[in-house]
Amino acid sequence: MNARQTFSGGVAVITGAGAGIGAGLARHAAGLGMTVVLADIDDGAIAALRSELEAQGVRAVDIACDVRDFAAVEELAKRTYREIGAVRLLVNNAGIEQFGYLWDTPVENWQRLVDVNISGVFHGVRAFLPRIIAAGSPAWVWNLSSIGGVAVVPLQAPYIMSKHAVLALTECLELEVQLAGHDHVHVQVVLPGAVASNIFESAGGVTEGDVHAAESQRIAMLGIKAAAMDPLAAAEVVFDQAAAGRFYLLTQPEYVGSAMAERADVLRAQRAPMLRTAQRFDPERH
Ligand SMILES: NC(=O)c1ccc[n+]([C@@H]2O[C@H](COP(=O)([O-])OP(=O)(O)OC[C@H]3O[C@@H](n4cnc5c(N)ncnc54)[C@H](O)[C@@H]3O)[C@@H](O)[C@H]2O)c1
Repeated sequence: MNARQTFSGGVAVITGAGAGIGAGLARHAAGLGMTVVLADIDDGAIAALRSELEAQGVRAVDIACDVRDFAAVEELAKRTYREIGAVRLLVNNAGIEQFGYLWDTPVENWQRLVDVNISGVFHGVRAFLPRIIAAGSPAWVWNLSSIGGVAVVPLQAPYIMSKHAVLALTECLELEVQLAGHDHVHVQVVLPGAVASNIFESAGGVTEGDVHAAESQRIAMLGIKAAAMDPLAAAEVVFDQAAAGRFYLLTQPEYVGSAMAERADVLRAQRAPMLRTAQRFDPERH
């Protein structure tokens, strides 16, 4: 079955749908004939996207939701099932970045990142999976990890840690769905490479310690963005891979796949983390 046959006519709920990858997934889901539920903390962004999609004749609903708040995610699930219908696709996509040395990281930034990137995914699973299981109709659950879920990078430790966590959480979830015999539930993990979005602009930084290092890393990542994939193109690849039944959904299969292979090599050889020469500490820059 292709993506249109698999998803057309179903309901998609996407967190963090107001920008970047989430907005791309929402637009592509709409193009495939899905009803889309746009959830985001940025209510203006999802209201604008809803209007855009409605103007194309798509059924779209925007629901303000902070994924850090379990009660809000539970309410999102309740409203979706009561007012729109059974969910065919849940995308736990909302995520944020953080730059700087771990020892300079403001405690509140750490907490916010863990709450959004890790607890937000758990809240989506906790609120929707019981309903998806009870409904009994085929459904897909995608959690957003990253190429950063299979790599280690300095000056982004909280983010990288969170994406490793989402990868492991999703792999365990897949085992649990198999264990419980819920064959109609398809769990998949999304590992994007660089995709154009707002994530680096809106990322946290540091307020004391080495502010320069944190902001240099932000600038380096903004540089990568110049060559980043268009979110709509990324969405098409992800939907096609999901429909083909893959577990690991890679926006750039070659590039992300080679990072997965490199990670496997490092672990197999038990090689200690090592900076590339270009990343070494240079007193001239400090
Ligand atoms: N862009 C990339 O290159 C890239 C690469 C790998 C993984 N990812 C992952 O993709 C996901 C989407 O990132 P993006 O790059 O599109 O970022 P983005 O900043 O463009 O969009 C993220 C959206 O999430 C929303 N959001 C933030 N906090 C929220 C909260 N508490 N509750 C609900 N919504 C919230 C924001 O308002 C925004 O609309 C993230 O999980 C990110 O880690 C992105």
